Amino acid sequence: MKFAEIQQLEENFQIATYKKMGIAVERGSGAWVWTSDGEKYLDLYGGHAVCATGHSHPHVVKAIQEQTEKILFYSNLVYSEIRGRAAEKLVSVAPKGLTKAFFCNSGTEANENAMRMARMATGRQKIVSFTGGFHGRTADSISATFLGKYREIGKPNVPLHVEAKFGDIESVIAVADDETAAIILEPIQSMAGVREVEPAFFSRLRELCDDRGIVLIFDEVQTGIGRTGNWFFAGSDLSGGIEPDIITLAKSLGSGIPVGACLANERVSSQIKENDLGTTFGGGMLAMAAALATLEAIDQDGMIENARAIENRLRQSLEGVRGIPGVHGKGCLLGIEFDGPASQIHSRLLERKIITGTSSDPKVLRLLPPLSTTTEQIDLFIDCLKEEATAAT
Ligand SMILES: Cc1ncc(COP(=O)(O)O)c(C=O)c1O
Repeated sequence: MKFAEIQQLEENFQIATYKKMGIAVERGSGAWVWTSDGEKYLDLYGGHAVCATGHSHPHVVKAIQEQTEKILFYSNLVYSEIRGRAAEKLVSVAPKGLTKAFFCNSGTEANENAMRMARMATGRQKIVSFTGGFHGRTADSISATFLGKYREIGKPNVPLHVEAKFGDIESVIAVADDETAAIILEPIQSMAGVREVEPAFFSRLRELCDDRGIVLIFDEVQTGIGRTGNWFFAGSDLSGGIEPDIITLAKSLGSGIPVGACLANERVSSQIKENDLGTTFGGGMLAMAAALATLEAIDQDGMIENARAIENRLRQSLEGVRGIPGVHGKGCLLGIEFDGPASQIHSRLLERKIITGTSSDPKVLRLLPPLSTTTEQIDLFIDCLKEEATAAT
């Protein structure tokens, strides 16, 4: 089918809820995708922060294919070797205190379950989250999302959600009391425009949570699974080495097969009993094969080191470029700040067959490329970007 026909087909039969780019993607390999019209695009948005291993990584595809020959699905009511191995591998790369996994299907579901675990572990109700954070679109997660109009579209909100300022420990101290079950945050606020804070903020949060018996949740739906050049933001130098009580994950974990997860420490996991949490699809065999193979591929191909190399190359090449006052973020979660609107640069790059992302900050273009993106691919982007940024000034 040609693009116009595909577009019409989707529009005829789907609720118009997404602002789409004017292309139809048909296949992909690494950081490349090909459209219905046979055009090749460089995907530095990584299929919406999902394809950390690149599109259709051969090791992941093989694992999925092999699993389909055995069984597609059985729920958590039976034991499964592939589920056990995926959990073991995930825990083995996690910060050392986070010893147990709970699998679900998406980022918002991981956050819902994390907040529920925090309430169960503390017997308290209140949740503190941050201006600019995004945690998903289901009831509790959207109520914890103090970014733009999201909370508004999620009304009626779940009660007892309160807001603090990202990076401002005094604002947290003012609202996090002995009624508070959890503090949840994106350690780098991606949608808000790749906003970062000093590592000292995380150690102050950890101290505060320890003092007041609060569960600390890192939403690593975007920052997790190697994206920042570390397996997780938690426990790395980026957080000053501190560990939260729960980490939530999704996006990259299944390379495109929907998988979400909560990782919890003993303090939390020991409070969760039979039937406290559950899901039909979470932990299904196909999803677990994808998750295990994703983690193996990241390991085997040295993608975490590559994520760091990509960041370094971009930072060095964009240093001092006219029209680009700043580069934010870590590894393969980067925000490029312009003097003018990023949406214009986004459109111009798309015309030049490079896919990038925008953010809630009108001046910030977001990159969430596969961790396997090559130096040549990054250089191609840098050349185009320099021309466009300079032309826009
Ligand atoms: C940091 C963060 N948390 C949670 C979510 C929600 O994930 P999902 O769309 O899989 O429900 C997202 C999605 O963009 C996200 O970026």
